[in-house]
Amino acid sequence: MRILLLNGPNLNLLGRRAPEVYGSDTLEDVVEQCHAHAARLGHRLEAFQSNHEGELIDAIHAARETADGIVFNPGAFSHTSYALHDAIEAVGIPTVEIHISNVRDREPWRRISVTEPACVYQIFGRGVSGYLDAISHLHYRAVHAPLTLPYGPHPDQVADLRLPDAPGPHPVAVLVHGGGWADPHTRDLMDGAAVDLAARGTATWNVEYRRIPPVGGWQDSIADVSAGVGALSSLSGDHGLDLGRVTVIGHSAGAQLGFFAAKTASVRPVGFVSLAGMLDLGNAGTGFDGLISAFLGDGEGARLAMIDPIRALPGGFPSVAVHGLLDRSVPPDQSRRFVEAARAAGDRSCLVEVAGADHMDVISPLATGWEDVAHACLGA
Ligand code: DQA
Repeated sequence: MRILLLNGPNLNLLGRRAPEVYGSDTLEDVVEQCHAHAARLGHRLEAFQSNHEGELIDAIHAARETADGIVFNPGAFSHTSYALHDAIEAVGIPTVEIHISNVRDREPWRRISVTEPACVYQIFGRGVSGYLDAISHLHYRAVHAPLTLPYGPHPDQVADLRLPDAPGPHPVAVLVHGGGWADPHTRDLMDGAAVDLAARGTATWNVEYRRIPPVGGWQDSIADVSAGVGALSSLSGDHGLDLGRVTVIGHSAGAQLGFFAAKTASVRPVGFVSLAGMLDLGNAGTGFDGLISAFLGDGEGARLAMIDPIRALPGGFPSVAVHGLLDRSVPPDQSRRFVEAARAAGDRSCLVEVAGADHMDVISPLATGWEDVAHACLGA
């Protein structure tokens, strides 16, 4: 694939401009990292930056001959430029919009992007690594493009469906991304797993959900994931989904959501897989205090018991807890304690420890140990 990396106004000043917001990498550093990441995935990348709207439009038009995907940081033009929206729409090249900063957590006018509706995806607030995530997203779309469908009226109530290249009915893996329930982390984190599992014969349904902010949004997040699982019943006929073979697979904080979705959804899953899951919130460690209290809002002590998977056992379904032994974000002890408690409560539950894998490796088909993870997911 040929990727155009396009940067808009003021991004030539990266590294010097408000480093507390945009970081210390220069534009040259960013371009270099993007080249290396694209090359790792087998793609070629060309970069262009301009402070002028017309030049950016010309670059998008020219991309019709030279690019199959665009990673675009339109800078402040994203908040105002309908002309750039139209250019992206007119050429029809899959374009991922990226913002280094968390545009939803700054001045209100930055929350509006008029260019986003013309793009296939938007990534924001992840620093410079958002550019690399945007390249990965284009990569996985090129391997297997998803069908993105709403399961509710909110823009975050959508999910990506990928069907295996074989006749149905297909077993279904519902994927629930992590990221501490918080805003900048969205379902592209599960793209690799979604594409890989679909290639192994399982339909994948990669669910987005409402996240923090607002503080105390736990009911919305849990209700969304549960509704996302339930929505499979209206899709099964058209897409050949086997509702008797649905598994919920959650990563990190997404495992906490996945566990409650598995318990409450109108479509009953036959299994739950936790990947590096936060399954014992009461013992998550001090590093998670801020996240958990933002998720819960006021009165967190009493509510913690309501949203802590280990305290809500038995689940009433078999579970598999997969954990990389090099995980420094969520300690492997979380999975060990959960499996022990699940068995004690009468659930069938097993632990899969993956040597050499860290927190993100358990969702990456490119990481060592993925075969073990994929087998755990399919076995469930
Ligand atoms: C930006 C966010 C915009 O609001 C701002 O005008 C920029 C940079 C970002 O990358 O975070 O120039 O696009």
